[in-house]
Amino acid sequence: MDRIRIIGGNPLNGIIPISGAKNAALPLMIASLLTSDTLTLENVPHLADVEQLMRILGNHGVDIAVNGRRESQGETYSRTIHFTCRTVVDTTAPYDLVSKMRASFWVIGPLLAREGQARVSLPGGCAIGTRPVDLFIEGLTALGAEMEIDGGYINAKAPKGGLVGTRYTFPKVSVGATHVMMMAAALARGTTVIGNAAREPEVVDLANCLNAMGAKISGHGTSTITIEGVTSLSGARHRVLPDRIETGTYAMAVAMTGGDVTLEGTNAHLLDTALEAIRRAGAEVTETASGIRVVRNGGGIKPVDVVTDPYPGFPTDLQAQFMGLMTRSSGVSHITETIFENRFMHVQELARLGARISLSGQTAKIEGVQKLRGAPVMATDLRASVSLVIAGLAAEGETTVSRVYHLDRGFERLEEKLTNCGATVERVSD
Ligand code: EPZ
Repeated sequence: MDRIRIIGGNPLNGIIPISGAKNAALPLMIASLLTSDTLTLENVPHLADVEQLMRILGNHGVDIAVNGRRESQGETYSRTIHFTCRTVVDTTAPYDLVSKMRASFWVIGPLLAREGQARVSLPGGCAIGTRPVDLFIEGLTALGAEMEIDGGYINAKAPKGGLVGTRYTFPKVSVGATHVMMMAAALARGTTVIGNAAREPEVVDLANCLNAMGAKISGHGTSTITIEGVTSLSGARHRVLPDRIETGTYAMAVAMTGGDVTLEGTNAHLLDTALEAIRRAGAEVTETASGIRVVRNGGGIKPVDVVTDPYPGFPTDLQAQFMGLMTRSSGVSHITETIFENRFMHVQELARLGARISLSGQTAKIEGVQKLRGAPVMATDLRASVSLVIAGLAAEGETTVSRVYHLDRGFERLEEKLTNCGATVERVSD
């Protein structure tokens, strides 16, 4: 099994190209199930989760063509992929496919809207929390679907004549349930108003793409989204927005190691709250014509408290990385996780590098230390594993991160991007 080997201590200097966002690409790909025309997505990152979703969509009948020519964008390469679902050949999403990636459960929305039925395996729990699906069931029921759980599957059936527009307010903000409601309501009869909708940039990106396909969605980016149902959607060409989590991760890496890095092809406004926390920690963060420049030359890392929250709050997907940064601060900081109940698995691994962190309920107290020392550590989930990479870059000596398949789910060409900025990082196979 592959490991990442890091020799820490080098500052990062140079340019890091930011890839298309995984969490935007996945729902956008799923939206291809809504039309018999071709949906072309540009700037699709090359990640294990994207490849897995291609297999799942293929199972439903989506024909997928990846552009042979790689689209050059400065130093980075992004892919243009064409998705065509002339006919849905299977409305069942089986356990062995859905269990590998929670987002694949989201096919339930388009399958129900287009075919009037879907049988989708429950995704089950996952490392960062129980992650139930009650909000999906309630939302789709409000659109008129009959939802029944049977043998680990959800059987969903639309009423005769299709889903019906509704007013529904989520009791809790959910990114995935908002994606699914938007996709299902796009082809419903009449108007749907979603209250307490997620405002994440990835929700906005999906709404923009659906509108390009002929949907009538407004209010995306606010907590009330209105969808006037249409009878059919067409193909479109859409560019996946930059990955704000990858952006924030590298910004935190530079804040931790010191140096001067320009993150290219990204947009500071996708992650204002996180960038503000990085500034308060002592790094300079400025917008450039093509992205963001992060500088920390000398000057220590200051302690900063953060609480994760739905967008525009501090993202849970950057919590582990920020904790990595705080392990080297000059004082005591607190990080509170409000989205997932079990998203602190990086704590014990960071401790192996010498970090001093104690947990009390959903809050971690981090007492900054002068030095971290390299050690073998284990990746437990995607964002936790990259926090270990960041900490390893700032630690003295050698750190090896095992179970790197977690990293491959969400970080495109991580070693190459870091090595180009002066880090000593390599992948080793046993
Ligand atoms: C998306 O997951 C992201 N995944 C996650 O990123 C991200 O951490 C999360 O949003 C929050 O920002 C993708 O976009 C593919 P939620 P999602 O539904 O949609 C609870 C990563 O590392 N909930 O917004 O699954 C849920 O348990 C991943 O890239 C219910 O209670 O998250 C959680 O506590 C990890 N019932 C909260 O809502 C439901 O039916 C928010 O989850 C659904 C969710």
